[in-house]
Amino acid sequence: MRSMAPYAILAATTACLAFVAPLSADAGTPSKLLHGAWTNTRLSPDRRADLLLQAMTPDEQASLLHGSMPLFMRPMPAGVVASAGYFDGVPRLGVPALRESDASLGVANAGRVNDDAAPLPSGLALAATWSPALAFDGGAMIGKEARQKGFNIMLAGGVNLVRDARNGRNFEYLSEDPLLSGVMAGASIRGIQSQHIVSTTKHFVLNDQETGRQIYSANIAEAPFRESDLLAFEIAIEKGDPGSVMCAYNRINGVYACENAALLTGVLKQDWGWRGWVMSDWGAVHSLGAAMAGLDQESGQQLDEKVFFDAPLRQAAKAGDIPTSRVHDMAHRILRSLFAKGVMDPAPAAGPLDTAADSAVSGRTADQGIVLLKNQAGLLPLAKGARRIVVIGSHADIGVLSGGGSSQVVPLGSVKFPAPKGAPSWGGGIVYQPSSPLKAIQARAGVAVTFNDGADPAAAAALAKGADVAVVFASQWSTEGLDVDLSLPGGQDALIEAVAAANPRTIVVLETGGPVLAPWLDKAGAVLEAWYPGAQGGEAVARVLFGEVNPSGRLPVTFPAAEDQLPRPQLPGAGEAPPEGGAAPASAPKPFDVDYPEGSDVGYRWFAKTGRTPLFPFGYGLSYTTFRHTGLRVSGGRTLTISLKVTNTGPRAGIDTPQVYLDKAPTRTQQRLLGWSRVALKPGESRQVKLVADRRLLADWDVKSHGWRLAGGAYTVSLGAHSAARDLHASAEVAAAVLGP
Ligand code: BGC
Repeated sequence: MRSMAPYAILAATTACLAFVAPLSADAGTPSKLLHGAWTNTRLSPDRRADLLLQAMTPDEQASLLHGSMPLFMRPMPAGVVASAGYFDGVPRLGVPALRESDASLGVANAGRVNDDAAPLPSGLALAATWSPALAFDGGAMIGKEARQKGFNIMLAGGVNLVRDARNGRNFEYLSEDPLLSGVMAGASIRGIQSQHIVSTTKHFVLNDQETGRQIYSANIAEAPFRESDLLAFEIAIEKGDPGSVMCAYNRINGVYACENAALLTGVLKQDWGWRGWVMSDWGAVHSLGAAMAGLDQESGQQLDEKVFFDAPLRQAAKAGDIPTSRVHDMAHRILRSLFAKGVMDPAPAAGPLDTAADSAVSGRTADQGIVLLKNQAGLLPLAKGARRIVVIGSHADIGVLSGGGSSQVVPLGSVKFPAPKGAPSWGGGIVYQPSSPLKAIQARAGVAVTFNDGADPAAAAALAKGADVAVVFASQWSTEGLDVDLSLPGGQDALIEAVAAANPRTIVVLETGGPVLAPWLDKAGAVLEAWYPGAQGGEAVARVLFGEVNPSGRLPVTFPAAEDQLPRPQLPGAGEAPPEGGAAPASAPKPFDVDYPEGSDVGYRWFAKTGRTPLFPFGYGLSYTTFRHTGLRVSGGRTLTISLKVTNTGPRAGIDTPQVYLDKAPTRTQQRLLGWSRVALKPGESRQVKLVADRRLLADWDVKSHGWRLAGGAYTVSLGAHSAARDLHASAEVAAAVLGP
């Protein structure tokens, strides 16, 4: 398992990784196309895979099915780069080596060493844009960088729902809503794969907390499962068609994700008809049975108890315990994806890596993903020039915070601080990416800006008192392998209280992996959620503070007012599950259950159902202008078609994101996001918007008929600025229907 002993080796070797030579730019593409009929690009990917398989020996086929984590390869073979995954290709037939890099937020540096990759803002920042176009652009950017760095498989595309606000990996994921997550992930996958790179959608499925991720069982009933986490994957896969899906560490209803036949074979391959290959998460294979359950490839084999998909698999196939047709199918799925995604054919030249241009792509996402949570008396935007500004806290003089773990990108100029106790030893520390908010504010302020590190609240408050404006940066680091609580760490709440008490013109800028509590909210003049904002994070914050960018982000997650509002006030396994990266425990860790009684009522739906008032609702976000929604109309029939008008009623150009929710169906009353539109409007301008509801969002999953059942009758929708402000309502009749799985 990833958490145990092997990471001791990793810690010892990380130091020398900087000296591993990078690959040549085209090392991930076939060195030469040999003469098989499979090189005919007019044939279908399936046919080409068949032809190629026929030319391969059984050993060559089997070699595709298990691969290493280069970090643990001793000695490191020539041409292999320190990254997450490596599989020998079949040079004799022109099959390239599979070179895998982590990828959720950029081309990660597995050795946690500085390099020239551009980091994207966190997944939640991306989802806060509600813009599939930006998701595509970010995907295309990291796909291009991957190719420039010699990778051909990106381990990108985390679609797990934010079921628990404390999940330490929420920053890699997108949202608490299946439609928003699925649409954004699908666009990002398409962007990555537009670059002749395979994208991997992960972690299938219900890896919704990090505590005990290798030992817990996530338990949920079939119908709510289909309507929540599975629906997010279903939409992402439909829209993005990833070449690969990664199965998760945890169990689902008692069965490991990577040996879960009902999910891998039943849902993914049969019900959804998906044709790609399932790869395991690193150290997530526990038996050879995984092959028959639907796992096609064992990744990071050094982290499993043994290499199940090497000799044991070949012997089982020889003995007839595993049909050769299944082994054939496993290899076929891999080759088919390589053909389908353009990995096997010459790709247009990617050219040299241009970090500045790539950072600009990241910066656009940061601009649009920052959410303005509070703006009392028009404190923001700040006027340029002649203001005494004090900037406080969170290393704003250095850069912006990023999330830790396998997705970590460490761009040149990053600064690291030691990780707190309990964090995985392999994480490489807390990384501040080099876009300093202080410098960006200084460049715009026109007067000297004072910086205070925030270590002494009284000193910070004294400085704030004499300033026109105080900008307090407050952050919460999160990482793979460790969950968080919802409070800002290190006395930052007290710091904000002290500064805001000294100067009500205090602006709080949050850099967090997910939702946090804000006990000081009433006292702060303005609050921005900047998430982990990536390559141009500091610049993006300054652009919003000074009004060069009118904030348009909308929360993709609910911010609870207290932890006891969550479906599980106590995080399951907290204090019991062994920490990642520590010494191996003396006895086997005790598996535990994570029950999901909330079913598909995740996030805002849980708050609506239980009548709880969050701190900030899903979909919420302010602007420097104002918008009006009018003319909500709905027509029915096969599904709902919704139209509405948005008008910019304020003084500035801005982007609005009107959201339409289902409020009432013949079978139920719970709320559900049906659609949204992002509308850029000049002052006084109006636009008409039309949305068509995906019928699965109106339907219930019917266990008996194994499909979606759409009840005939009246459906009521509402329109509003966010999930808790739905001012306009309209209804229409939809015809009953039974849809396939
Ligand atoms: C993570 C995956 C990652 C893999 C390879 C695992 O620990 O869960 O998301 O892709 O490592 O680094």
